[in-house]
Amino acid sequence: MTVIGGGPGGYVAAIRAAQLGANVLLVEKDQLGGTCTNRGCIPTKALLADAKMYDRIKLSSVIKADGLRVDMEQLQDRKNKVVKRMVTGVEFLLKDNGITFIRGKASFLDRKTIEVEVEKGREQFGSQKVIIATGSVSAQIPNVPIDGKVILTSTEMLNIPSIPKDLIIIGGGVIGMEFACLFSGLGSKVTVIEMLPQIISTEDEEVIRGLTTLLKKRGIQIHTETKVKEARVKDGRSEVKVIYKDGKEEVFQAEKALMAVGRSPYTEGLRLEKAGVALEGKFIKVNERMETTSPGVYAIGDVTGRQMLAHKASAEGVAAAENALGHPNKMDYSRIPNCIFTLPEVASIGLTEKQAKEKGLRVRIGRYPFQSNGKALANGDSEGFVKVIAESELGQVVGVHLLGDHATDLIGGLSLAMTLETTVEELGKTVQAHPTLMEAVAEASLDAIKQAIHLQRKG
Ligand code: NAI
Repeated sequence: MTVIGGGPGGYVAAIRAAQLGANVLLVEKDQLGGTCTNRGCIPTKALLADAKMYDRIKLSSVIKADGLRVDMEQLQDRKNKVVKRMVTGVEFLLKDNGITFIRGKASFLDRKTIEVEVEKGREQFGSQKVIIATGSVSAQIPNVPIDGKVILTSTEMLNIPSIPKDLIIIGGGVIGMEFACLFSGLGSKVTVIEMLPQIISTEDEEVIRGLTTLLKKRGIQIHTETKVKEARVKDGRSEVKVIYKDGKEEVFQAEKALMAVGRSPYTEGLRLEKAGVALEGKFIKVNERMETTSPGVYAIGDVTGRQMLAHKASAEGVAAAENALGHPNKMDYSRIPNCIFTLPEVASIGLTEKQAKEKGLRVRIGRYPFQSNGKALANGDSEGFVKVIAESELGQVVGVHLLGDHATDLIGGLSLAMTLETTVEELGKTVQAHPTLMEAVAEASLDAIKQAIHLQRKG
C-alpha cells in the first residue's frame, strides 16, 4: 500500500494499514504531521495557551505583575519545540510500525504506479492500493495579493517575530476567529471582516450570538455582512477595502492583514487523470468507504472536502486502510465533534437547533450557564453555557453545543454519549464528580426534562 501525504489522515492510514499486515510506503514532500502539526492545530494551540495565560494575568485583580510582557522569541521557540516533538513522534511511530517513509512529491503514472520526485531524481513504485491524503492549502480571493509579510496566510502569521499593533482579519470563520483571539490576547487591536451575517456561521445560533458578544466585549471589532473587495500593501502597512451591505465602501488599515477565507483541496501535480480519479467540484470524489472512482485508490481528509478537520481525516484514514485491506468500514459523519479554540472555546457535536427543526424533529432543549457552575466560578472563567438538544419522544441526545472555557475538553465525553445513543435522562443522571465543569452538561441535560437541580425556575 502507498499513502500519499503524511498529515493526520495519511500517517494514521499508514499505521492502521501496517497494523493489518500491509507493506506500507508513505510519501511526504514536506514535514511529517502535515498542516495540523506544522502549520495548524498544534502550533496555534501552543501560542494560544501562552496568550491565554498572558491575557488572564493582565486582567487579574489578584495577581499583580509589574512590567508584564510577552517575549515573542521565547513564545515562538516554545511553539517550535512543541511542533518538533510532535513531528519526531510521528517519525518514530512510522519506524515502529515498519513503514517505509520517502520524502518527495508523488504523482500517478497509472492507478497502480506512483512516481516520486526525490532530491536526486525520480523513483517509481508499484502498489496494489493507494490512499491519497494530500490535504489543503489556504484559499485566495482575487485582488488580495499575499506577500507573506504584511498580507499573510495563517502559515506566515504563525511565525511572525513581533506582535502587530493592529491586525485586520479577512474572514470570520474558524481560522479567523482563533487568530482574532490569539492576537487580541497578545495585545493587538483586531478587526474582523466577515461577508456573511455571522461569524463561525455553521455553529448553533445561540453559540454564535454568545461568542460574538463576548469577543466584542474583549475589544475585538467584528464587521459582518461586509465583504473584502481588495487589499494592498501601502507604506509597509496593509490597506483593506471593504464593501458594506448597503453598498458603502471603507478602507481599513493595519500593520498586518490575515487572509482566512477558507482552504482549497491540494491536488496539484498528482496527475489524478492518469489514475482515473474523478473530482467533484475541486475535491476528490469519494463514497463513505473512502473509495474514489478508481478501483484500489482511496482518498481521505481535506482533499475530499466535508469538514476540514484533523480528527475527521484520521477517522477516514482508518476507514480507508481497513476497506483497502478487506475489513469493511463505513464513515459516519453525524457524530464528528467540532472544536473552535477561541477564548472562550466553542465545541459542538450533532445537530444545531436549526438543523434539528429543518429535519422535522420535535426537540426538547436544555440549557445551563457556566455562571451557575461552581468549578467555572472557582476557575474565574464562567462565561458561556451548555445547550443540549434531544428529540422529544425518547429523549435521545441529537446535539450538544458548548461555549466556555474547556469546552473542547468536555466534548469528548459527549462524543461517546452520542455514539452510545444516550438519552438526556441518562446524561443528566450519570453521577458527575463535584466540582467539575461536566456538572453543567448534566444540568443542561436535566433541564431538557425540567429536572435541573441548580437552576432557578423561570417565572
Ligand atoms: P471557514 O470556511 O471556516 O471561514 C472562512 C470565512 O471567510 C467564511 O465565514 C466566509 O464567509 C468568509 N469570507 C470569504 N470571502 C470573504 C470576503 N471576500 N470578505 C469577507 N469574508 C469572506 O475557513 P477558515 O477559517 O479559513 O478555515 C479553513 C478550514 O480549516 C475550515 O474548514 C476549518 O474547519 C479548518 N480549521 C479547523 C480548526 C479547528 O477545528 N479548530 C482550526 C482552523 C481551521
